[in-house]
Amino acid sequence: MSITGQEHRMTTRNGIPVMGLGTYQRLGPEGCEAIRVALEIGYRHLDTAQSYDTEENVAEAIRRSGVPRGEVFITTKVATTNLARGAFLPSVEKSLKRLATERIDLTLIHWPSPNDAVPFEHYIEDLGTAQERGWTRLIGVSNFPIALLKKAEAILGKGRLATNQVEVHPFLQNRTLRDWCDGAGISVTAYMPLAKGRVAADPVLRDIAAARNATPGQIALAFLLQEGLIVIPASSRRDNLAANFAATGIVLSAEEIARVRALDRHERMINPASPPAWDR
Ligand SMILES: NC(=O)c1ccc[n+]([C@@H]2O[C@H](COP(=O)([O-])OP(=O)(O)OC[C@H]3O[C@@H](n4cnc5c(N)ncnc54)[C@H](OP(=O)(O)O)[C@@H]3O)[C@@H](O)[C@H]2O)c1
Repeated sequence: MSITGQEHRMTTRNGIPVMGLGTYQRLGPEGCEAIRVALEIGYRHLDTAQSYDTEENVAEAIRRSGVPRGEVFITTKVATTNLARGAFLPSVEKSLKRLATERIDLTLIHWPSPNDAVPFEHYIEDLGTAQERGWTRLIGVSNFPIALLKKAEAILGKGRLATNQVEVHPFLQNRTLRDWCDGAGISVTAYMPLAKGRVAADPVLRDIAAARNATPGQIALAFLLQEGLIVIPASSRRDNLAANFAATGIVLSAEEIARVRALDRHERMINPASPPAWDR
């Protein structure tokens, strides 16, 4: 699903804006203001989760921005603590209320249930039910390795999962998983695309950025976009929000792409105590 040059797109074929805003830690009035500023700059995809406690801030920021709800794409994620039968669907109804919307655009399973504490088919079936009830237009998963994507497809049917949101940045490019998702028609959303800001110090990204009068963060984001990914960088600063958004306008050369590809060192920053069996 690699894209180059003029093929650079603003949304996926099922309508997910490829430049999104991460809202993890955008709490309280300052967090709400950061989300509103992002909408003012032009972001139209907000990534939240039940566990971030930012769903209400997303709704309030949209209200304050004056941007019609229908023009903003909202992704939320069902928390690990809500995966059990009897908890899953009521938790989605609560998300609908907190998000002040009748339908979520994309609902994800945040993590597979650690140690299979909740049977896999229970929460995958409930995810499908949430879509069938019209509570969410699209469904997907997060932090799923290939083996679990296959299991989910066996339950839901092929073509149901819109995205797999996983950690991807220049230092963890996750090629094996991404290639499989490309073949299955599942888009990949890169979380932590700036490696928590660490891309700013990388000498190669700095070198490419200096030659283009850009920032290393912009080069990282432009790279991921050109590789066909959806990105959801986070910031509380107007200048960084604006710079990150402007990365959609940067098209890297084949040589620059090759240099960033070479930065992959499988450096995973998010790894819980009982991790899924990650693909290498
Ligand atoms: N599904 C999952 O399990 C999962 C896990 C982690 C994250 N996520 C999602 O991914 C989103 C992004 O991840 P993240 O927030 O952890 O990390 P990130 O977007 O990679 O990095 C955010 C950090 O980078 C800094 N930054 C932002 N723009 C910058 C720029 N242009 N130049 C230099 N530094 C910059 C920010 O500081 P300033 O505020 O100072 O700009 C912030 O400290 C989250 O908000 C969340 O929505 C999902």
